[in-house]
Amino acid sequence: MLCCIALLGACGTRKASEDTLKSVLADKFYIGTALNSWQVAGRDSNATAIVTRHFNAIVAENCMKSESLQPREGEFRFRQADEFVAFGERHGMHITGHCLIWHSQLPRWFCTDEQGNNISPELLRQRMKAHISTVVGRYKGRVKGWDVVNEAIMEDGSYRKSKFYEILGEEFIPLAFQYAHEADPEAELYYNDYNMYYPGKRKAVCQLVRQLKERGLRIDAVGMQGHIDIHHPSLEEFEASIEAYADAGVKVMITEFDMSALPSPWQSANLSDTLSYEQRMNPYVDGLPDSISAQWNARMMAYMQLFIRHADDITRVTTWGVTDGSSWKNGFPIRGRTDYPLFFDRQYRPKPFVEELIRNKES
Ligand code: G3I
Repeated sequence: MLCCIALLGACGTRKASEDTLKSVLADKFYIGTALNSWQVAGRDSNATAIVTRHFNAIVAENCMKSESLQPREGEFRFRQADEFVAFGERHGMHITGHCLIWHSQLPRWFCTDEQGNNISPELLRQRMKAHISTVVGRYKGRVKGWDVVNEAIMEDGSYRKSKFYEILGEEFIPLAFQYAHEADPEAELYYNDYNMYYPGKRKAVCQLVRQLKERGLRIDAVGMQGHIDIHHPSLEEFEASIEAYADAGVKVMITEFDMSALPSPWQSANLSDTLSYEQRMNPYVDGLPDSISAQWNARMMAYMQLFIRHADDITRVTTWGVTDGSSWKNGFPIRGRTDYPLFFDRQYRPKPFVEELIRNKES
């Protein structure tokens, strides 16, 4: 019942539009979303109704990360990932695997021994190859593309001092792309990261792309995660990076798009009084004021229009979740907040900018 209300609610009292996000953007780029474990298991039917109606691409929010797939060496757990891929195939969707090599959500055994010491370079190469070839090989021809390496470059352009970097240096990245390509020569391969509009990171990622290409390794796109907020980054900063990555000879994907409506702790003076700080940092518990909602929707529309203007270079825009209530932003960078970062609200209704995008297509 709620599912029907959700769809009706999506269009209010007006006749339900035949057009959807994926229909109005069909000639621009894939429009996708991340699925959480509840949605993968089919336990959020209202979200599933939105996903199958509005999106033609999906990515796994968590179930394909190394801690989920191989919690202990040689012990693979594919049930959720299999359900995720089967969902995408059932609905004819572009399926992205996220993510093969990442310093976070990484099981401890992968890079260290029982005493917590770093393992040898040779053993890490073996473990990377075993993980990547087992996972990519299992979904060969079914997963369209992979976030091969996630978040390896810092904002100043230096390499993150991850365990992969400590043990193998910069070489861990080309190795990961090589192993992924060997496991599925047809799969698209991506480098994925956040804050990709920082000039230092932009320059380093463009250099990384060129290095991989010079070595004859496949890299199809860079993923700009797109975790932004209501104040920054500017469209100009973001656009400069889209253009720079395209100039480096790869496609661009907006891979984890969301826009926090809340004050950022990184832009806020820490107040000594915790209570007033918490109230100040979580000001919209009972809903967004109209003025903030209007500002948020206008900025989201401006970003979508930016992506549409660059549709020749952008092949996919994926939101990091379906509805506001399931967004990771409710718990990061401060736990227990009420944020409004996604395309659909807590009542499964499309935000005004989504309805405007669809209406604009009809006009
Ligand atoms: O699965 C366990 C569950 O068994 C346990 O009861 C529960 C409470 O501890 O934790 C659950 O694991 C959580 C996991 O999400 C699945 O819900 C982890 O604690 C939690 O840390 C993890 O957060 C994820 C985060 O990556 C981890 O860094 C977010 O859901 C996910 O949205 C976020 O996604 C990342 C991208 O992969 C990469 N780009 C940044 C983005 C945001 O951090």
